[in-house]
Amino acid sequence: MLKQLSRPVISLRNFSTSRSNKYKVTVCGASGGIGQPLSLLMKQNKLVTTLSLYDIVHTPGVATDLSHIDTNSTVCGFMGPDQMPDALDGADVVVIPAGVPRKPGMTRDDLFKTNASIVRDIAKCISTKCPKALVAIITNPVNTVVPIAAEVLKKAGVYDPKRLFGVSTLDIVRSRTFIGNSLNVDPQKVTIPVIGGHSGVTIIPVLSQSQPAYKGSQSDIEKLTVRIQDAGTEVVKAKAGAGSATLSMAYSGARFAGSLLRGLNGESGVVECSYVESCVTDATFFSTPICLGKNGQEENLGLPKMNDFEKKLLEKALPELKKNIQKGVDFANK
Ligand code: NAD
Ligand code: LMR
Repeated sequence: MLKQLSRPVISLRNFSTSRSNKYKVTVCGASGGIGQPLSLLMKQNKLVTTLSLYDIVHTPGVATDLSHIDTNSTVCGFMGPDQMPDALDGADVVVIPAGVPRKPGMTRDDLFKTNASIVRDIAKCISTKCPKALVAIITNPVNTVVPIAAEVLKKAGVYDPKRLFGVSTLDIVRSRTFIGNSLNVDPQKVTIPVIGGHSGVTIIPVLSQSQPAYKGSQSDIEKLTVRIQDAGTEVVKAKAGAGSATLSMAYSGARFAGSLLRGLNGESGVVECSYVESCVTDATFFSTPICLGKNGQEENLGLPKMNDFEKKLLEKALPELKKNIQKGVDFANK
C-alpha cells in the first residue's frame, strides 16, 4: 500500500495498464548462464505478470532472489522433471535456454547428443500443459532442435508452425554492434536482416540491406561476414572453457521474448528475424524477418533483396541447413 502511495501518478497509470495484460512466461533452464540474466530481464518486462522458472537445479534460490525485485509480477520456481508440468501449465510464452553450452574446439552440432533429448522432453510437456504457447528455443544446435520440437508437437497433434521459433536474435544484435562500431553510429539505430540458420555458414548477414548502409570494400564485407558467422566461437574461445555467450544471449533472448509479448498484446509492426518452419527456400526451417502478432507469426516477410555475394552465401548454407534439419526429424521419429 505504502509503495503504491509513494509512486508518481504516471506510474500508477502504468501499473494499472500492465495489470490488464496478464502473461505467464516460463523460462526452462532458468538457473543457467543465460537463464538467470534472462529471467532478471523478464522480471523487468511490464507485460509479464507470472514468471515461472524451471530447471533441474537451483530454481528455489533463483526464484526467491528474483521475487524480491519490486516489479509487478509473481515469480515461481520449479525444480526437476516432476515439477515441469506445473512450471509450464498455462504459459503464454516459453523460452528455452536449457542444455549444455560449447567448450573450445566444439561445434554446436557436438551439443546435439545431450541437448536433443532435453528439448524433446520439454516439447512433450508443452504439448500437454500449454499447447497454445509461443515457444522460443535458444538451446543449441538451434538448426536441429527446433525441428525436433516441431516433430514432437506434431505427434501430439498440437503443432502450430506459427507458434514455434528458433532464437537467432543474437546474430542480429552482433551485426548491429559490429556495423554500428565500424560506421561510428549508435548500434541501436542499425537495422540488418540476418537470415538462414544459427551456426557457421548457415548464418547469412545480408549486409547490402544494412540501414544505414555499410560502407566497406568487398574484402571488408567478406571479413565482417565471417566475423558475424564466427562470433559465437569468438566468445567460446575468450571464455576459455567457461562456456559460451550468456549475457549477450540473455539480452537477445529478452528482446525476442519481449517482441513475442508485444505481438501477443496487440501491438502492430513488431518484426524480428527468427528461425521458423518456412517455404521461402527449399530448407524446411529458415530464418527470415517475421511479423509477430496475437497468434505468433502473422506473416513471413520472406527473403530480403540480396546481391550476388549474398546469393552465394545462401547457396552454401542450404545443404548444411537441410542436413541439420533432417538430423532433427530423424531423431524425433526414431
Ligand atoms: P548453462 O550450462 O550455463 O545453463 C544451462 C542450464 O540448463 C543449467 O542451469 C542446467 O541445469 C539446465 N538444464 C540442463 N538440463 C536440463 C533439463 N533437462 N531441463 C531443464 N533445464 C536443464 O548453459 P548456457 O550458457 O545458459 O547455454 C544454454 C544453451 O543455450 C546452450 O545449448 C547454448 O549452446 C545455447 N546458446 C544459444 C544461443 C543462441 O544464439 N541461440 C546463444 C548462446 C547459447
Ligand atoms: C552463440 O552464437 O554465441 C551461441 O550459439 C553459442 C555458441 O556455442 O556459439
